[in-house]
Amino acid sequence: MKQILPRCLTAFLLCLPALPACAAEATPVEIEFSRQQSILHGRGTLRLEGYVIDRGLASYAHALMPGFEDAVERLGPKDRWLDIGAGRGQAIIDYYAPPSDADALRKPPRRKADTVAMSIEDRRMEAWHQTAARLEPGQMRYVFDKPLRAFSAADLGGQFQLISDVIGGFSYTEELSMFMERVMSLLTVDGVFYSALQDVRNEDGDNKPFYPNEPFLTRIFDEKGAETSICAWLRRIQCAEVVCMPKSGWKPPLQTYRVRKTCEAVSVPRLERTRFVAGTPPERSFRITPAPAAAR
Ligand SMILES: C[S@@+](CC[C@H](N)C(=O)[O-])C[C@H]1O[C@@H](n2cnc3c(N)ncnc32)[C@H](O)[C@@H]1O
Repeated sequence: MKQILPRCLTAFLLCLPALPACAAEATPVEIEFSRQQSILHGRGTLRLEGYVIDRGLASYAHALMPGFEDAVERLGPKDRWLDIGAGRGQAIIDYYAPPSDADALRKPPRRKADTVAMSIEDRRMEAWHQTAARLEPGQMRYVFDKPLRAFSAADLGGQFQLISDVIGGFSYTEELSMFMERVMSLLTVDGVFYSALQDVRNEDGDNKPFYPNEPFLTRIFDEKGAETSICAWLRRIQCAEVVCMPKSGWKPPLQTYRVRKTCEAVSVPRLERTRFVAGTPPERSFRITPAPAAAR
């Protein structure tokens, strides 16, 4: 899924009109952000092969920790599911697929949960609109045009029992701690976040980056500058029960995460971004910033 941009393509992406990096004095990080925007918005031949936007529910179950499928299955008629970085929204389209005759005989169909698919760019196709037309108005929403951190709970119609992210905002955001703060604020107590990251250090620190001579794709360093794992950082979130697990059969390898919100007094250790290189997904490094004295 990781992809290095050919130099000529990079130059083309950089010169798309109306991007800040085309201004004369863009800083290196602004140039990377601008390249990332070009990747996110690429369509037709400009959509990079590594930028996958159409994984369905079965692929989500394959990428996420065991238990995700059951969590979707258990959603009741009053529950809500947010898919962050939904691409075309195929996983949600699949969720609403009519049951087969045999399934309908075994278990009478019941109203399904409400869902919100979120994407920075609008990737909806006809299948999305056809599915939405079969449901109650508003049961299946698609929100776009901005990153997760720019949406409030009110914008999204309230909190969620289930939040998923398959190589979406968790992999792409340049503001990882703000991202996690927003995820935690959008979960109900007992609500669960399922996600995965490619090519990252595992909790025991005994794995190596997938690509020779390249670093892990997302890296976290502690307050003393020692490299730690995403899992260790997630475990420091207050009011979160965290399970981390490698998922076999993926190249690059995947680490999967399950975060359950256990109480309201959430506190996410702040991260400062120290590196961002555009890609599918981008290469990112963060440093945990010391907690303010009063909060220690
Ligand atoms: C590679 S696609 C993955 C789509 C889908 N999950 C799949 O597996 O097919 C990345 C998705 O994440 C979205 N995305 C990236 N950064 C985001 C952010 N900070 N907040 C919300 N969505 C984001 C993109 O707009 C896009 O919909």
